[in-house]
Amino acid sequence: MEKLVIEGGIPLKGTVTVSGAKNSVLPLLAACLLTNERCRIKNVPNLRDVSTMIKILRSLGASAEFSNGEVTVEAKNLKSHTADYKLVSTMRASFCVLGPLLGRFRKAKVSLPGGCIIGVRPVDLHIKGIQALGAKVDIQGGYVVVEAKHLSGGNMYLGGAFGSSVLATDNVMMAAVLAKGKTVIESAACEPEVVDLANFLNKMGAKIRGQGTPCIEIEGVRHLHGTDYQVIPDRIEAGTLVLAAAITKGDCVIKGAFKEHLAAVLDKLSDCGVRIEDVDGGLRVRPRKSLKPVNVTTLPYPCFPTDMQAQMMSLMSVTPGVSVFTEKIYPDRFMHVAELNRMGANIMREGPHAIIEGKKLLSGAPVMASDLRASAALVLAGLVAKGRTEISRIYHLDRGYENMELKLQKLGARVWRDRE
Ligand code: EPZ
Repeated sequence: MEKLVIEGGIPLKGTVTVSGAKNSVLPLLAACLLTNERCRIKNVPNLRDVSTMIKILRSLGASAEFSNGEVTVEAKNLKSHTADYKLVSTMRASFCVLGPLLGRFRKAKVSLPGGCIIGVRPVDLHIKGIQALGAKVDIQGGYVVVEAKHLSGGNMYLGGAFGSSVLATDNVMMAAVLAKGKTVIESAACEPEVVDLANFLNKMGAKIRGQGTPCIEIEGVRHLHGTDYQVIPDRIEAGTLVLAAAITKGDCVIKGAFKEHLAAVLDKLSDCGVRIEDVDGGLRVRPRKSLKPVNVTTLPYPCFPTDMQAQMMSLMSVTPGVSVFTEKIYPDRFMHVAELNRMGANIMREGPHAIIEGKKLLSGAPVMASDLRASAALVLAGLVAKGRTEISRIYHLDRGYENMELKLQKLGARVWRDRE
């Protein structure tokens, strides 16, 4: 296994470009199953999760080739409707092949994704949605087995105890586009990645309206055709790079970031005093002598995203004063707290809350990555800590960040990959 080694204390300087959005690419690739014609997805980041989704498409019998940031998929002769446990258990997002398989073939068998380190990760809203389209759903041996003689449009409310669900909205949308009649999803997820999927489906010939709002309407069509599509930039990577500049008191331009996708994060950063300005095609982060502590509560889009909570906690760990974080999406998403405390942070967890007493400095230490965003938080802490930080199990970072160390090296960071 590999580790990342960081010598902290260097203010980052220069320009870096954001890659395509992981959480958009994964459902887009699944949506290619809805047609037997060729689809070409552009601006695809080279990530472990993308490779896993490509393996799943191939395991179903589709052809999928990835080169130079483009994935070409042709789901002409599918040989199976079963997404296997071995693959699905490695990446929860694989569950979003359920909707397209049901939409196109009226049946699917997809392994329950199981939980992961950030939470239980239930699929009850996915099941509720496809049942509203007339599908019969059974749980057999750890698999969700669905079948629908006639898939017909239906009305549903997809809000759960923790608000809307991104992938449940995606799954239902992908089943409904080929259902007979009209579907209305209330309390749909509004994330930009859901909008990207709806726009891709419409380019394939679907009839979807209201994407980006809590009410999405879908008029079923008989057939979808192949198309080309460019993925939106990754707002979470963009936010992580903005924080890398802010935490090191650097001066960087983050090119390709869509400001409107980061409104809640940028608003919070401006409250704490980070200087961010619009520049041609991106955002410029300027150094500021001292920052103020801010409180953060994670909620569904357009509020502060749970996927930026860990990274923001690293910044608050070195901002003198007290901040209170409340995690409303995944109440256990605090694996980064113990590791940040190993670096000298002073964070106390209380249920879905974390109280951070910011300090002047962190000190480098050997730490362990546990999940994608926690590993990003440890990278940020390592960039500002005094001395050397070694982050083991760095494969977690590679799931969602394309060449992160190369991007940071370009900005002057002293970071490199090594054998564990
Ligand atoms: C997507 O996961 C993202 N993943 C996650 O990003 C992100 O954290 C999450 O949305 C929330 O924004 C991808 O898009 C591939 P949810 P998803 O269904 O769709 C509960 C990352 O770091 N829920 O929106 O699986 C659930 O437990 C990853 O890039 C139900 O109760 O998340 C959670 O508390 C991590 N029942 C809340 O809803 C369900 O049927 C939001 O989950 C489904 C979800």
